[in-house]
Amino acid sequence: MPEKIRCAVIGYGAMHNFGWAHCAWITHTPDLELVGVCDIDETRTAAAREDWPGIATWNDTKLMYDEAEIDLVSIVTPHFTHCPLTVEAFEAGKHVVVEKAMCLNVDEATQMIEAAESAGRTLAVHHNRRHDGNYRRIKQLVEDGEIGEVFQIDLQAGGYGNPDHGWYTQKAKGGGAFYFWGPHAVDWVLDLVGEKMTGVTGFFHKKVWDQVDIADQVRALIRFESGVVADVMYSHINAAPRPLWRILGTEGAIVDTGAGATTGYEHVVSTPPQGTVKLIRVVDRGRRREEMDVPNMANDWDSYWQDLADHLLRGGPVPVSGHEGRRTIAVFEAAERSSRSGVTESVPYE
Ligand SMILES: NC(=O)c1ccc[n+]([C@@H]2O[C@H](COP(=O)([O-])OP(=O)(O)OC[C@H]3O[C@@H](n4cnc5c(N)ncnc54)[C@H](O)[C@@H]3O)[C@@H](O)[C@H]2O)c1
Repeated sequence: MPEKIRCAVIGYGAMHNFGWAHCAWITHTPDLELVGVCDIDETRTAAAREDWPGIATWNDTKLMYDEAEIDLVSIVTPHFTHCPLTVEAFEAGKHVVVEKAMCLNVDEATQMIEAAESAGRTLAVHHNRRHDGNYRRIKQLVEDGEIGEVFQIDLQAGGYGNPDHGWYTQKAKGGGAFYFWGPHAVDWVLDLVGEKMTGVTGFFHKKVWDQVDIADQVRALIRFESGVVADVMYSHINAAPRPLWRILGTEGAIVDTGAGATTGYEHVVSTPPQGTVKLIRVVDRGRRREEMDVPNMANDWDSYWQDLADHLLRGGPVPVSGHEGRRTIAVFEAAERSSRSGVTESVPYE
């Protein structure tokens, strides 16, 4: 491995500025070096050259692998391309960090993991939002026992509105209604609970938006070994949204609207603390109740990239492994299966 990890970003899309965000994180990380950007769209590689003067660009990954000296590719393309592009990168001998959603289904996730193993290279999934300042604060409060033993976690996002969002809302390309925000939510839950799942019950509704072939609302109830239950929902038909997070514990609760917590996301590498979460503590079996606004931590999204560099250069842990990414995809699949079968489904790779 050279002194600095030589990186190329595949996908420089305009929808969320996210190829740009990967380039920004790479150039910000002392151990990483941005060599170039590859996008099949020439207007996007022209934009990349303007944003990052001096970099190389390609419009074909095969050409990039023939020409470039690179160690790591980050894949920031539509979900249906993640598996083939990842397998191709491992065949070219590169390490890979792939955006969420890792891929479309568990079979693809397994192919990606096996390709990494046969190539002897690293597969990391970009679940960078474990570094959101509100999630970091919530995790610290839970781990410090501030609300006692957690038994229920509710996470929901979306609202009421036309879902149309390019390839994201085409099932074959995006994966379905769970695959846009759901990867963040399910990854948070799996990271926070840290237990085996015992089953997933799914509820999918298709009622209003006929112009797209994804569900209007998706919901997964995830049961864990100790009895903890997580309720994750994303909706395009919810006219009465609840807060983003509500966590119930035996001695209190945490409520977070998420408002303002991640302002600047997709345009900056990190931010100082912004926003607060509400901590509710009950004392003496509920006879007394305390409520306080606890400031969020910093959004240290750049740490994900430093962790990745530490892994590749110094043998530290992979920030989020392919095996962890596959568990999230397995929840979506089990939820969809359950929405059809009407019963709780088991989760492979629980
Ligand atoms: N982690 C996060 O918070 C976060 C935020 C936004 C987007 N994302 C993820 O980033 C990925 C990209 O999303 P986006 O909104 O930037 O999409 P986008 O459509 O704006 O950009 C995708 C780009 O990939 C290019 N592309 C497609 N196929 C390609 C191929 N075979 N080779 C090279 N380039 C190819 C397209 O031309 C396009 O420019 C998705 O996985 C999305 O979920 C993650």
